[in-house]
Amino acid sequence: MNMLFLYVLLVATCATVVTENVRWEAFQGYFTNAMHASEIEINNVLKSPNFYKNLPPILSVPKRSERTLKDGEIPQYAIDYAPLVHLYSEERYMPYDIAKFVKNFHATYPNGTKVKDTPDELQITDLPKLPRSPDIYLTSNSDFDKDPKWITGAHNVPSLIDGKIDKAPASLIVVDKGNGWVDAFWFYFYSFNLGPFVMGSGPYGNHVGDWEHSLVRFYKGEPIIVWMSAHGGGGAYFYRNLEKYKLDRRHPIIFSARGTHANYVSVGQHPHDLPYEILCDFTDRGPLWNPTKNYLAYTYDGKHIYPQTNRSGSSTDGRELSYGNWLSFEGHWGDKQLSSKDPRQRFSFIAGHKYIDGPSGPLSKNLIRLNPCERHKWWNFWNGCNVRRNIKWGLGIESEGYNCGNIFNWVRPRWLKEMFQKITWGGGMCFAVDLIFG
Ligand SMILES: *[C@@H]1O[C@H](CO)[C@@H](O)[C@H](O)[C@H]1NC(C)=O
Ligand SMILES: *[C@@H]1O[C@H](CO)[C@@H](O)[C@H](O)[C@H]1NC(C)=O
Repeated sequence: MNMLFLYVLLVATCATVVTENVRWEAFQGYFTNAMHASEIEINNVLKSPNFYKNLPPILSVPKRSERTLKDGEIPQYAIDYAPLVHLYSEERYMPYDIAKFVKNFHATYPNGTKVKDTPDELQITDLPKLPRSPDIYLTSNSDFDKDPKWITGAHNVPSLIDGKIDKAPASLIVVDKGNGWVDAFWFYFYSFNLGPFVMGSGPYGNHVGDWEHSLVRFYKGEPIIVWMSAHGGGGAYFYRNLEKYKLDRRHPIIFSARGTHANYVSVGQHPHDLPYEILCDFTDRGPLWNPTKNYLAYTYDGKHIYPQTNRSGSSTDGRELSYGNWLSFEGHWGDKQLSSKDPRQRFSFIAGHKYIDGPSGPLSKNLIRLNPCERHKWWNFWNGCNVRRNIKWGLGIESEGYNCGNIFNWVRPRWLKEMFQKITWGGGMCFAVDLIFG
């Protein structure tokens, strides 16, 4: 009986690999009876937003009457369900305070010329005064390649007591999507992105300034979907199935990868962008960062940013006002890609340059997205934004799960389930099964 079941699965997965474009929702629904009907519905809706008349259309901003929140009003649920972040245990580049960060920079054009009438050491409140253009770079005043403190953020380690990083606030941006839907974007800033090693050489893709983020999407105050950034793409999951913080089970747990700070929902090795695990991120259960202990909060309506108005009794009250309208800065939060003549620069045909451009800020991350994914990787265009039901486990010896082994979750007793998972899907079959059951 079990062999027959496996055989059917095998045929099905092969068929899927051959015809990736075929839509398998019906098939999926049949096998994953653990999935809520509402989840299937939401997932299908996200793949064909035109059919979902209750959501505002793509890239439009809901009218005031369609919103539930006032400008500057941060709902308590955005805080209560915020993801907590496991940093990598041996992370060398910790979160950093943007206000302290910018003091190490002056503003330049792409040709390296300093922007006229701007200070040699920028203040965070200078950012809105810079030209409104993506062609402005924060260019560092000292050599970032020597790992100064403002680059490593050494000491910005989460407190063992409550996960607070005293000196590095996260940034929360709440966007009301209308009709009861609210997106809470948590932005994590690190001063430096250390790229991956590729076949023994590297790192490649380093940059000064590193903005990562997660999104918790609420419907009428209930968390439904969590999305997290990783290398210009990212992963979307139903909130319900993510790991939760043991001391307050409302908070989902995510993991920030070593050096790149890309976010994942599990520990281990995470191949990305290139085939055959050429490029991998690594996550583990390092220090747990609780961004709700220290954050700046704003609402955004697609045009304007409003600092939180209804915060009280906290030591950080009013800090948004002292930081000013920094979110309006449209340029790069770090140096321009080093020229090939610079002795610090390297180039590889597979992995590109060692040092690339600093990233643009939070408002460039498609915050008015309808689909929970920021954008799609070119190879993922047929799939849209797949909201996963199951945790995508990392690979390697630190892994805590079996991706496609999840299809055996119904098997009891537990030891039998684990045996099935080990024997059948611990190996390469995972990729195929993942396409169907992910
Ligand atoms: C701000 O307003 C929201 C929505 O009314 C409420 O949930 C939250 O508790 C308020 N926060 C504070 C600090 O008053
Ligand atoms: C660099 O670019 C800026 C803006 O385009 C321009 O005003 C400036 O003259 C340029 N400087 C040089 C040295 O070419």
